[in-house]
Amino acid sequence: MSEKLRIIKMTEDELDAVDVMELEVYGDTAAPFEFLMDAFNDPNGYLYVAYWGDEIAGHCAMSHKTSATPNYCNIGNLMVKKNFRRRGIGKLLMIKILDKAKELGLSRATLKVATENFAAIDLYKSFGFQVEELIKNFYADEGGDAYIMWSYSI
Ligand SMILES: CC(C)(COP(=O)(O)OP(=O)(O)OC[C@H]1O[C@@H](n2cnc3c(N)ncnc32)[C@H](O)[C@@H]1OP(=O)(O)O)[C@@H](O)C(=O)NCCC(=O)NCCS
Repeated sequence: MSEKLRIIKMTEDELDAVDVMELEVYGDTAAPFEFLMDAFNDPNGYLYVAYWGDEIAGHCAMSHKTSATPNYCNIGNLMVKKNFRRRGIGKLLMIKILDKAKELGLSRATLKVATENFAAIDLYKSFGFQVEELIKNFYADEGGDAYIMWSYSI
């Protein structure tokens, strides 16, 4: 792992940069800034950013609501800037999120991923996630399908 790479809990200072990164990666289909703010302000949410040197290179989120999801967490928003991919950043963000989930006493995790997103599916499989369900037309704008993936032993 490069010494240039570090993962930290997201702070308010990083919100704008993360929003810009979302727009760069997802363009018109990027979630509105309010979604990020809601996730940031969610007391059950855990958001992390990856720095490569001084530059924000990626981010991801995990949420765990005791009443709604008693034994598991939802992982979302995993993203690495295009010019920083294939350097192990996505992997390290996943390790951070899953470590947090384990620290909370959780043993299971779930996420949704576009069925054609082979890079992300490969990454999740390498962490023991498996496809459990197909949701047709999950991404309304693009009309794409999604898999629900689970790991029952994080
Ligand atoms: C998916 C994503 C987060 C991976 O980030 P990354 O930092 O490039 O991933 P890593 O370098 O840590 O790679 C870890 C593993 O993921 C898989 N992987 C990553 N990119 C891949 C690619 N282009 N093709 C196939 N497998 C890939 C591999 O298993 C890889 O392990 P390896 O390098 O030992 O082969 C990144 O491609 C991305 O941001 N994509 C756009 C946003 C997105 O789709 N997010 C997921 C939403 S569900």
